[in-house]
Amino acid sequence: MGFIEIRHLKLIDTVEQVGTLKNAAERLYLTQSALSHQLNELEARLGTKIFHRVNNKLIFTPSGKELRDASKEILKRLEVLKHKINQINEDNIKDYIHGYSDEETTRLNNQANSISEILHWDSKWEEGSLVLEAGCGVGSQTKIIAPMNPEASFVSIDLSSISIEKAKATISKEKIGNVEFQVADIFQLPYKDGHFDHVFVCFLLEHLARPMDALKELKRVLKHNGTITIIEGDHGSTYFHPDSEDAKKAVEAQVSLQKKRGGNANIGRELHPILRNAGFNSIQVIPRQVYVDDSKPQLKEGFIRNTFTAMIKGISEEVIVQKFILRNELDSGIKDLNATSTSGGTFCYTFFKAKAIKSSV
Ligand SMILES: C[S@@+](CC[C@H](N)C(=O)[O-])C[C@H]1O[C@@H](n2cnc3c(N)ncnc32)[C@H](O)[C@@H]1O
Repeated sequence: MGFIEIRHLKLIDTVEQVGTLKNAAERLYLTQSALSHQLNELEARLGTKIFHRVNNKLIFTPSGKELRDASKEILKRLEVLKHKINQINEDNIKDYIHGYSDEETTRLNNQANSISEILHWDSKWEEGSLVLEAGCGVGSQTKIIAPMNPEASFVSIDLSSISIEKAKATISKEKIGNVEFQVADIFQLPYKDGHFDHVFVCFLLEHLARPMDALKELKRVLKHNGTITIIEGDHGSTYFHPDSEDAKKAVEAQVSLQKKRGGNANIGRELHPILRNAGFNSIQVIPRQVYVDDSKPQLKEGFIRNTFTAMIKGISEEVIVQKFILRNELDSGIKDLNATSTSGGTFCYTFFKAKAIKSSV
């Protein structure tokens, strides 16, 4: 047990503001006896009195005065720290290129639904296990993997509270009972070491400036011998028929924008080395190719038009403003990407799914 805790500092600071233990208890939403107990405990730890009690009023002793001044200073610094961290979180969210619009929610759902079989036929964890899903977004993958693993429990986190609210609504509408949601930052997870049996991450590392730090934090909360599963795309793997220089430029513009924001749209091919450098073992990466032709009309609609081309459309204004592409080139690129979904067109894109273990060998 520590020497002085933050609750003690709050107690002293509040008594200073309101004068009596009764008023301080009300302000802190505690009972007077709980506060009295905290005070006695602190005085015992310090081996000195903090207050003289005069007609129910608390008057600071000389040690109490020292403590009062230090409490004020420390609490003020903690407030500043909290503010700074919120700021960093908001900046992280601002750097996220796809944003949180309703269109993006629809796109994420189209993406997850259209390729669920290709990505998730093997997304299985054993009965009774606790799985952390990091960067769950609006729950597009959650609503697929949670029902596939009814005997496992999921904790799904995202930095965006807006997305978490949308994810909660989806999961409750689908009557899925084995998921809990929390707003949290992958770089500072609010869980103890070794808390989870498994970790699952989908389409998140590509947006992070420090994917290695994220992996180290995920490794910390993972049990020994626990597994991590990561799915990421790689825009460099995109090719199509009819071929089009403008469509290729449009894809490249998205890659450049993501890079400018600190991410890496071609991260799929790097999963093996990144996992190895983060200290994971038994790494296995399996490419998952989405190949679309006339025999797969659902993928033409769900993947080419509503996932991939919709993604390029979603960042249109930004790539033009940043001068990664001219407006007429982008418009023509988007038209050509859509053309690959018409009769005779084909489209290829490769996702990478990696699985690794936290072990000493
Ligand atoms: C492309 S979305 C993917 C969402 C979901 N995994 C899916 O496949 O549909 C990326 C998500 O990562 C989240 N994210 C970005 N930075 C994060 C961070 N530092 N901690 C937690 N989530 C983060 C974003 O808020 C966004 O919801």
